[in-house]
Amino acid sequence: MIAGGWMNDPNGFSVYGGKVHLFYQYYPYDTKWGPMHWGHQVTEDMVHWQECKAALAPDEEYDKEGCFSGSALETEEGHVLLYTGVTKDKKSGQERQNQCIAIGDGSEYKKTADCPVITGEMMPQGFSRVDFRDPKVWKEGDCYYLLAGNRDESGNGQVVLFSSMDLYNWRYEGVLAHNGGVIGSMWECPDFFALDGADVLICSPQDMKAQGYEFHNGNNAVYFLGSYDKEQKLFTKEKPVSLDYGLDFYAPQTTCLPDGRRILIAWMHSWDDSFIPKGQRWKGMMTLPRELSIVDGRLFQRPVRELERYWKNNVCYKKARIEGERQFEGVSGRTIDFTVKILSGSFREFVVDVAGSDEYFTRFTFQKEKGIMEVDRTYSGVTKDIVCIRRAKMDGSERVKLRFIMDKNSVELFVNDGEMVLSTVIYTPLKAQEIRFICDGSALVDIEKYEIE
Ligand code: FRU
Repeated sequence: MIAGGWMNDPNGFSVYGGKVHLFYQYYPYDTKWGPMHWGHQVTEDMVHWQECKAALAPDEEYDKEGCFSGSALETEEGHVLLYTGVTKDKKSGQERQNQCIAIGDGSEYKKTADCPVITGEMMPQGFSRVDFRDPKVWKEGDCYYLLAGNRDESGNGQVVLFSSMDLYNWRYEGVLAHNGGVIGSMWECPDFFALDGADVLICSPQDMKAQGYEFHNGNNAVYFLGSYDKEQKLFTKEKPVSLDYGLDFYAPQTTCLPDGRRILIAWMHSWDDSFIPKGQRWKGMMTLPRELSIVDGRLFQRPVRELERYWKNNVCYKKARIEGERQFEGVSGRTIDFTVKILSGSFREFVVDVAGSDEYFTRFTFQKEKGIMEVDRTYSGVTKDIVCIRRAKMDGSERVKLRFIMDKNSVELFVNDGEMVLSTVIYTPLKAQEIRFICDGSALVDIEKYEIE
């Protein structure tokens, strides 16, 4: 099947019938956003995916403007999808976002007669009925909970909580978290789970202003660690932290595997930055699925370990010295997993150029004294006026481990075993395969590279 159409947020990331299912915001008829469907893919190892037929189309009165983002759950009745049905209010003609339900067997999905099961009218007066979307559902004991993005009476972002015993009859519980008028505006795509002794709220705030190197302008994806009081249904949160420091990352969603791993996947593009080369018939990518853990009060993300099953043709250099510019025999390619460990050195800047040729490169610069990691895709073949540089703050130690996972059109850099990730899309012609290391002083490194097949 030839890939085609538009894709944005991951939806319904869940385990059903022993397989991992991923749905996504999908418009099959163009490379632009249009009335949203749910595309559907299945995998057994989170690396190889199999396309299934689209699960939802905007074909009912209550979702005729689109089947927006949502989540999924395995139940005795089947595979349950909770999504936002977008429609127009008959009287006012204004847009309305309500939460709807569909059930399937892993391949066919049917909307139920009860849709919508949650309407904006169930919330206090003043809460937006227009921005009320992206339900995340989970089960605790016998009770189901659902969190959705919303705006309060002043237009500020918040996430609202509902509960139900049967997935059809829902009760409004309250506001679980609020942006305090300062963390962006609308909070899209909430997710909420317990991990390594903490409670974690993820959301994607729109319209943020840049803050230091932590947040960039526009649509960000952030997490809050905190603690959830189940009785009071209150979440006490710490400060927001960026989930990714690259150029393309938005609307992440997680699921829990039967072996207990919490896995995150995100849309590897965003609303303002998406561009594709002329003639490309598809638009939209997902990040690699990542295993989450909390280490020293920080959320770590590591590529799923299943990727290692696809490692091939290992090339390894131990204690190699880099002074000036250097390339290594066998260290090149565009579908590869390679790690550079800086063991020691005296330098100000250590650079790794990937997807390089005479004409192209995408540059990652570790500025040791400033403690900054920078990604720069200016020379990756971009022909649009989009953001190409982003910097992230890290500590100034020279012992740094950089793991780059490159797919044909993307680079995901995992710093220090997942302490920080930078995900960036590049549409560089595939013949640009070189990897160059440049050091303005001297550095001793270990390099390990695998092709991914
Ligand atoms: C996030 C988002 C969601 C919405 C969907 C529409 O990227 O704006 O809030 O449900 O995309 O496609």
